[in-house]
Amino acid sequence: MPLAHLHAAVAEERDGIAAEPPVNLERRAAFWNLDCTLVGVADGGPVGLAFVIETPFGFGELGMCVAAEWRGRGVGGALVAAVIDLARERGLHKLSLGVFPHNERAIALYRKFGFVEEGRRIKHIRRQSGDLWDLIDMGLLL
Ligand SMILES: CC(C)(COP(=O)(O)OP(=O)(O)OC[C@H]1O[C@@H](n2cnc3c(N)ncnc32)[C@H](O)[C@@H]1OP(=O)(O)O)[C@@H](O)C(=O)NCCC(=O)NCCS
Repeated sequence: MPLAHLHAAVAEERDGIAAEPPVNLERRAAFWNLDCTLVGVADGGPVGLAFVIETPFGFGELGMCVAAEWRGRGVGGALVAAVIDLARERGLHKLSLGVFPHNERAIALYRKFGFVEEGRRIKHIRRQSGDLWDLIDMGLLL
């Protein structure tokens, strides 16, 4: 449940991740796959998380978020490094992710770890506002 709360708080921002409120906490918590999730912990609670959804085709889809008050302090970097290790351990050959073009912090972070931009999906994500946001595909060969 603490992970679902973190996810919901970031969704409330309506900025960095595709999910928007309301997040069904019970359902989100029930379906969380802990086997492929890494959690940054401070003060006894989660301050960031990253997960890899493994596909049958050798690549994994990466998703992540850090609590707003903990950003810019290296939590995201530590999680990306750990998730890359996890993906290698699982025998994946590639990590891929989608990021909004305005999310400069996330794009800078992924580039730092070697992810490259592979394409741009035009008007891909429909927001509750009705706006249609592009999504940049990024990938890292492991
Ligand atoms: C993206 C996110 C996970 C990054 O986590 P974080 O803990 O802030 O990341 P870090 O502090 O480890 O590193 C951020 C890096 O980006 C840099 N950065 C920060 N703001 C930046 C900006 N506006 N433009 C470019 N780079 C920026 C930092 O300097 C840092 O690089 P450095 O380590 O070389 O100094 C976090 O901001 C977040 O959760 N955002 C909301 C949810 C989200 O966008 N998730 C990703 C969806 S694809």
